[in-house]
Amino acid sequence: ILKVKTDQSIAKVEPNMWGVFFEDINFGADGGIYAELIKNRSFEFTKPLMGWSIQQNKSNEGEVLVVNRKEVNETNPRYLQIKKEGDNLELANEGFKGMGIKKGLRYDFSMLYRMPVSGIKLVLNLKNSQNKVIGQTTLTPKQTDNSWQKQAISFTATETDLKAKFTIQFEGKGNIDLDMISLFPQDTWKNRPQGLRADMVQMLADMKPGFIRFPGGCIVEGTDLANRYQWKNTIGPIENRKLIMNRWNIEFAHRPAPDYFQSFGLGFFEYFQLAEDIGSDALPILNCGMACQYNSGEVVALNELDPYVQDALDLIEFANGDITTKWGKKRAELGHPKPFNLKMMGIGNENWGPQYLERLAIFTKAIKAKYPDFKLITSSGTAPDGDRFDLLNTSLRKSKADFIDEHYYRSADWFLKNAGHYDNYPRNESKVFVGEYAVHADSKIIGANRNNWQSALAAAALMTGLERNADVVQMASYAPLFAHVDAWQWAPDMIWVDNLKVYGTPDYYVQKLFATNKGTDVVLITANQKNLIGQDGLYASAVVDKATNELIIKIVNTENKAQTIDLDLDGKKKIKSTGFIDELENGNLNQLNSIENPQTVAPKRTTISIKGKKVNLVLKPYSFNVIRIPFS
Ligand code: AHR
Repeated sequence: ILKVKTDQSIAKVEPNMWGVFFEDINFGADGGIYAELIKNRSFEFTKPLMGWSIQQNKSNEGEVLVVNRKEVNETNPRYLQIKKEGDNLELANEGFKGMGIKKGLRYDFSMLYRMPVSGIKLVLNLKNSQNKVIGQTTLTPKQTDNSWQKQAISFTATETDLKAKFTIQFEGKGNIDLDMISLFPQDTWKNRPQGLRADMVQMLADMKPGFIRFPGGCIVEGTDLANRYQWKNTIGPIENRKLIMNRWNIEFAHRPAPDYFQSFGLGFFEYFQLAEDIGSDALPILNCGMACQYNSGEVVALNELDPYVQDALDLIEFANGDITTKWGKKRAELGHPKPFNLKMMGIGNENWGPQYLERLAIFTKAIKAKYPDFKLITSSGTAPDGDRFDLLNTSLRKSKADFIDEHYYRSADWFLKNAGHYDNYPRNESKVFVGEYAVHADSKIIGANRNNWQSALAAAALMTGLERNADVVQMASYAPLFAHVDAWQWAPDMIWVDNLKVYGTPDYYVQKLFATNKGTDVVLITANQKNLIGQDGLYASAVVDKATNELIIKIVNTENKAQTIDLDLDGKKKIKSTGFIDELENGNLNQLNSIENPQTVAPKRTTISIKGKKVNLVLKPYSFNVIRIPFS
């Protein structure tokens, strides 16, 4: 018998409790949600022709050159110089693991060019995996002078292909310079030109996340300070966003380094816009003057920290300042005069040690002096076991940090054992943001094994503990979010994509069920007057939703057998005679979803009957159950 005290709120659930963590890892941004199909569109990858190949009948020296003009254009130094003399010249771009092309869809091409005299035409082709043309148009450059021009043209694909490529055949003779060669599908999110992949954004929108944490993760820190994430380099015209090597362009979890760069086509303005589109709070994380400590341990000298702090202050002004302020005006010029209403930011990602604390103190002083109510998320370095964590955590709580960001990448067993972790946590000090977590099937090689049904079930069990302690743990986000099936570094990711499709893992459905059933007030659910933390393999939490007038109970059955439970609803409120249950279950703990079978583990809804204040239910083996009981 599980007793639920329906009248007694033991904690408020913050409206933004369950959020998402976005990082450009696993080709989450470039090659993922950022819908650009051309890889290395501005020739700025370390090897300038990465992603490109040149096909010609006979090699004509000097026909294709990459010119570097870094003295005059620091942010986008390289361009392609074509001198067409021979009879056949074709440039091909492989895309990010190919290009996903859809039959009947419009594709929007654009480029920057400079052509002093007319003479060259560009035949643009989409070619499928068998090299057959599946979309074609001809672009005749309009302007003939010595200035750079932008020209665009659209055409429709005649076939669907998962791994197509794009080519430019040059016709005629003469000289032309090219840069920012770009191709986007028409069906971007909200049909924004050069925007985001709509199917991926829709997966997020469907979760109704309370916040989006961005842009990471380790990429905030960078392998060194030169390659840290700097938000000011990610706004404004895309040709001025200076590309850098992605911090995940490394050998990791026994996988070779990919060609992985950050074009910043998805930059801070787009992140804010995305958060606004899907009704989430924006939660940016900024570099605290320290590069990734697992990598280089490079820190900026304390007397040179000012620009970093200024970036944080300017970001708040960019998000919230009115249009008479310098950065508020910039936001308005980018098309958003209304403030974004930013309420919080993180200082540092996984940073620790006295170096972190002294830098954090400088940030905190400057930000709180100007914006006293603004909330700061501080880093606890890593997972909550170990001396390093305890030391930092104690110091942060002593200094009355608003939020402490805790990360757990641990085994399923660890998750189950720690489902009660916050039950005895100090209530009136700093709040906790569980900013990254995922079950890692083999914790010896972090990131090597995919998350399966066992991972999701254990995550659900831990999340009942987070929800029960919603007065302390006020925000949480699973990580990482996206991965491309052909280009990933970490395997335990929430949502996977190929070039055409997207699917949610069992963890996606766990996260979605929590976020869409968050309620407003935590209420007690007990068995023999104890919180349910693993007795008979069951884990539970309960909330009341004052807006919809419902009781919502979440119960995880981690046993390989069906279990009968009796819910005893104790309180003055009257209950309707029917409710429903969303069941997420599978008899096989190793079960995965996939592109071919995206819904093998997905919630199924059925109606339940309620007799007075009693509900009798059979929980399926290995199941996560969300039960909604309406008050009358
Ligand atoms: O989620 C992947 C990585 O895990 C993040 O970049 C980092 O913060 C953590 O170590």
